[in-house]
Amino acid sequence: MTPAAERPDRTDARTLSEASLAVHAGIELDSTRALRTPLVMSNSFALADDPSEISWSATAPGLYTRNTGVNQQALERKLAALEGGEDAVALASGVAALHAVFFTHVRAGDHVVVSDVVYEATWRLWTELLPRRYGIQATFVDVTDPDAVRAAMRPETRLVCVEAIANPTTKVADTAMLADIAHEVGAVLMVDSTFTPPPFYRPLADGADLVVHSLTKYINGHGDAMGGAVIGRSELIEPIKADAMVDVGGVISPFNAWMIQRGSVTLPLRLRQHFASAQRIAEFLDADRRVAFVAYPGLASHPGHDVARRQFGGREFGGMMAFALDGDPDAQNRFVSNLRLITSGFSLGHDDSLIVHTAADGPRTATYPAEFRRYGHLRLSVGLEDADDLLADLDAALDATRL
Ligand SMILES: Cc1ncc(COP(=O)(O)O)c(C=O)c1O
Repeated sequence: MTPAAERPDRTDARTLSEASLAVHAGIELDSTRALRTPLVMSNSFALADDPSEISWSATAPGLYTRNTGVNQQALERKLAALEGGEDAVALASGVAALHAVFFTHVRAGDHVVVSDVVYEATWRLWTELLPRRYGIQATFVDVTDPDAVRAAMRPETRLVCVEAIANPTTKVADTAMLADIAHEVGAVLMVDSTFTPPPFYRPLADGADLVVHSLTKYINGHGDAMGGAVIGRSELIEPIKADAMVDVGGVISPFNAWMIQRGSVTLPLRLRQHFASAQRIAEFLDADRRVAFVAYPGLASHPGHDVARRQFGGREFGGMMAFALDGDPDAQNRFVSNLRLITSGFSLGHDDSLIVHTAADGPRTATYPAEFRRYGHLRLSVGLEDADDLLADLDAALDATRL
């Protein structure tokens, strides 16, 4: 028998492999000895005999659920372990997590550098809401161009904000390169890694300071709970807890934290299936004459393919792609309505495959590649259905859509 000292210890995140971490990280036995962290919905906790000196803004458990809940803490321990970060904070949604970073770490008069392709809400926060309300200046750049990023940096730049694989164009950001540039002026590099969850990718290991996730997506994986998280060094996470969580109130609900903790157990297994199917589907679409373009980092023709190969380990490229048929907007809509298995719906990273048609023109699409601006695009989140069934659905819908 292997001596106890050499056996893996499920309480020590540092000694466990990723699949074991996904099962065990975060769980601590309490007085009930339950092997699953019990769901604690109580808003309030019994205070000590003299509570008169307790800060109502404390970021501690055992006070009030907005100050930190039991299920939230278990989820945060797990996320920190999965990302290899010191600390994590779990919030109500991915957008609450993004806003929490911006609200906490950027002030009036500061400047931020933002990727020219980011998720809708990030785009609106940096084009409209934060500059107009708080006088923070944002410069949008092509983050694949180091000279453009360097030229955009100012002495007052506090934050560089990118997505590892961007929603929806699948532009790939080179984290190590961006970390070097951000750190030259003492700025924080924040990577939204929603399309690239652990163990597939860990931006902190490449020099990012903060990682953001929409937990709503792959990490929960079942399309039935919203959440968001920020992971990084304690000195950067603790102020987010104190400011954006406790006193702005973006905290995650205990039930959602419990659901996401449960969903995340199968994350490494699920990602393998999502990614293998996505590669097959991207290649299938790319080979079809009726398809005008396919944006997927696993295709050799993708401009970010080489960075993706290097950064993501060379074999897998995510579960998200964008494409369009060689036709007008009506043809894209007819194609979607001809699908039987793949559903038209927002969100991504769920067990079911989801597709959404977005128009070619709009203020936000101005920085998208030319083919997105010509045809519009269909964003496809490849789910966990059998890949052959998904290919058959796409093939039949292509046949049924007369172009
Ligand atoms: C890259 C990215 N970040 C953040 C979000 C926001 O997440 P949530 O919907 O959980 O607020 C999304 C949602 O689609 C996303 O795609």
